[in-house]
Amino acid sequence: MMSRGGTRLAGSSLSALGQRYFSIVTARSVSHQTASGILNGLAGAPVRSVTFWARAPVLGLRNGSSMALQGEKTDRVKKEPVAESAGAPGGKDEKQISYWGIPPEKISKEDGTEWKWNCFRPWETYKADLSIDLQKHHVPTTFLDKMAFWTVKSLRWPTDLFFQRRYGCRAMMLETVAAVPGMVGGLLLHCKSLRRFEHSGGWIKALLEEAENERMHLMTFMEVAKPKWYERALVFTVQGVFFNAYFLGYLISPKFAHRMVGYLEEEAIHSYTEFLKELDKGNIENVPAPAIAIDYWRLPADSTLRDVVTVVRADEAHHRDVNHFASDIHYQGRELRESAAPLGYH
Ligand SMILES: [Fe+2]
Ligand SMILES: [Fe+2]
Repeated sequence: MMSRGGTRLAGSSLSALGQRYFSIVTARSVSHQTASGILNGLAGAPVRSVTFWARAPVLGLRNGSSMALQGEKTDRVKKEPVAESAGAPGGKDEKQISYWGIPPEKISKEDGTEWKWNCFRPWETYKADLSIDLQKHHVPTTFLDKMAFWTVKSLRWPTDLFFQRRYGCRAMMLETVAAVPGMVGGLLLHCKSLRRFEHSGGWIKALLEEAENERMHLMTFMEVAKPKWYERALVFTVQGVFFNAYFLGYLISPKFAHRMVGYLEEEAIHSYTEFLKELDKGNIENVPAPAIAIDYWRLPADSTLRDVVTVVRADEAHHRDVNHFASDIHYQGRELRESAAPLGYH
């Protein structure tokens, strides 16, 4: 089965991931303005935008609570077409609406209040799966795995030295790095799909989802820790080096690249566990959760930073699984597209 060492997690990862596949169906119907209407910039031309969405478990294996979640989301999101008057004279949207004929959709939360985030929408939100095993570890057996493992371990030393116990700051800075691999991997698989005229098995989307999820971690933590000028400078430098190094590394050996990210995620779980310990000891103030986190993870309104760190840690555990799984597929001498990607796995 796993003829090339270091793949013992593949079976369990496959079965675990297989339970969570979703299909996402989005349909959009936009009535067409006449060419002359568009050209003339007629705000009075009939423009309707109706968007509906549905998510359903493809393999039927995700538990019933997920179905409840889907119902909850459907109830929660009420999208209304916005009349042309939304771009009222003098309004900042007027130009966009009158020229392109695409009115902004008004999205409401289930309590009727307006959805205030443009950077993500209600159908992208989710409840974190906190039941995930945080202890799971891929034991490195091959030379490549050991190299990935020790590369990550060696990176921890300067990180510990620089941040020490400033976990809020540490989390924010590390998320600027963590959001890179998914984007690079997704980009390279995208280009490969184009070059070879072949499907990706959903892996492009899965890796981009991971990148977006990591970026949302950053958007959350920057609400509670403001970066100083030298930290911003450090991000510039690290991003310049890491993006290119990971890009090259992925081209040369995707199985090494994914394995390394798997170990990075294991370290992230450790860091967030330490973060939680500091919060519990009272060394870090357990401030109210940022509004963006409450909406993104569908947390109760009275949630705190501790709740946020807990759901972020669960996300990292899912990223760990996805990347070790991807590496295992390569270890089996197969390509990612041959195994359905764990879409919506979080
Ligand atoms: Fe993260
Ligand atoms: Fe992560």
